[in-house]
Amino acid sequence: MDSVYIRGGIALQGQVGIQGSKNAVLPVLAATLLADGTSVIENCPRLADVYHMQTLLKSLGCSVTREKDRLKVNTEGMNKLTALSADMPKEAVESMRSSIVLLGALLNRMGEVELAYPGGCVIGKRPIDIHIEALKQLQVHFEERSYGLHAYTKGMKGAEIRLAFPSVGATENLLLAAVGADGATVIRGAAKEPEIESLCGFLSACGADITGGGSSTILIQGKRKLSGAEFAIPGDRIVAGTYLCACLAAGGEVLLTKAPAAQMGAVKKVTKAMGALWQETDKGLYIQRGARLKTPGKLVTAPYPGFPTDMQSLFLPVLALAEGSSQVEERIFEDRFHIVPDLKLMGAKIEQTDKRKVRIEGTEQLSGARVEAKELRGGAALVIAGAAAKGETVVDGCGYIERGYENICRDLRELGVRIYGV
Ligand code: EPZ
Repeated sequence: MDSVYIRGGIALQGQVGIQGSKNAVLPVLAATLLADGTSVIENCPRLADVYHMQTLLKSLGCSVTREKDRLKVNTEGMNKLTALSADMPKEAVESMRSSIVLLGALLNRMGEVELAYPGGCVIGKRPIDIHIEALKQLQVHFEERSYGLHAYTKGMKGAEIRLAFPSVGATENLLLAAVGADGATVIRGAAKEPEIESLCGFLSACGADITGGGSSTILIQGKRKLSGAEFAIPGDRIVAGTYLCACLAAGGEVLLTKAPAAQMGAVKKVTKAMGALWQETDKGLYIQRGARLKTPGKLVTAPYPGFPTDMQSLFLPVLALAEGSSQVEERIFEDRFHIVPDLKLMGAKIEQTDKRKVRIEGTEQLSGARVEAKELRGGAALVIAGAAAKGETVVDGCGYIERGYENICRDLRELGVRIYGV
């Protein structure tokens, strides 16, 4: 899908099921490498990054089969030579950030890995220094090579590790490595995101001994025998948040079935403060927006349970239409306001006052325009702006959006948006 066409300005109405979480499934798939036999992962979204991870697992000798939303990974054919010869498909490694979690998993399973550097993206530099410093403390050694990184260990040993920042990816990598280390590992300053809880849940189901997943201190007793397990990936909190924002921007009422409302506390607080109705029902998360919303004042992104950086762009069109002035500060990524010029083109009164800050004066209406997605969440935010704007909006560059959304056009059509992709 290259471009999305939207005829906006119609209040939303309808219900849609929320896909499985992209950021939860990728480390869980990496973790299947650690378990003997077959793991069955339910509710796997159909996304490019998931397909890349499937390709990487197959290149390592695993058999991977999909039946609808269920993926079966069998690790019996795993091949040490492949992991060492640096010929894991470079394109699959470089095209997604999550390939970095293979580092911890492969060090655990094979003791030595050659890995191309993972892909970055336009939201900022995304270094991996915290991953490397933490793994070094488990007795892993690193050498820079022309193709990327060579990492090896003569046997990982548990350690007490304090992360300089609660990095989601570094916490995942450490978990994947530490379950294979000798003795106990304590991770202090760990990320508390729900995706960490999912990874700990899957590893525990396989037989790992982990306590504290989802809190800032995680304790891992290493070297337990891991066997394949069944695990269901929760709904994607950011995709649920995207359709919530579409409703907040365009008005109307939506029911988001399979939305992980319990993981969306910070978003709930902002939604309610702005004046929309948020109801957690047996059938799903029900959102209703009638009158024009009021600004929540200031939004500042923070590690979980704070307001998620991935929701920041999605709220920009909502704030652009809310009554009053809003300020948004991005504290996680250094460069996550690429959509500001496009929102301006649609009539938003938004100014970037600093690399990490924007100021918005609410306006009553946005107007359709031709705009371009430059990254995943910013692209989805432009689609939301289009759903709320009067007239036709065309969003080009939609390949980025497909990295995180199975089918954003189908889902929004279920909610009454006049939208199609070509
Ligand atoms: C995960 O990225 C998510 N990606 C991101 O979602 C999400 O925005 C982010 O966590 C924060 O919640 C996946 O799970 C695949 P971090 P990750 O390590 O693990 C700096 C989306 O839209 N840092 O917590 O890469 C880093 O530069 C994506 O789905 C270092 O400096 O996030 C960033 O500023 C985008 N050195 C901050 O920490 C390191 O070694 C947070 O990064 C690692 C990170």
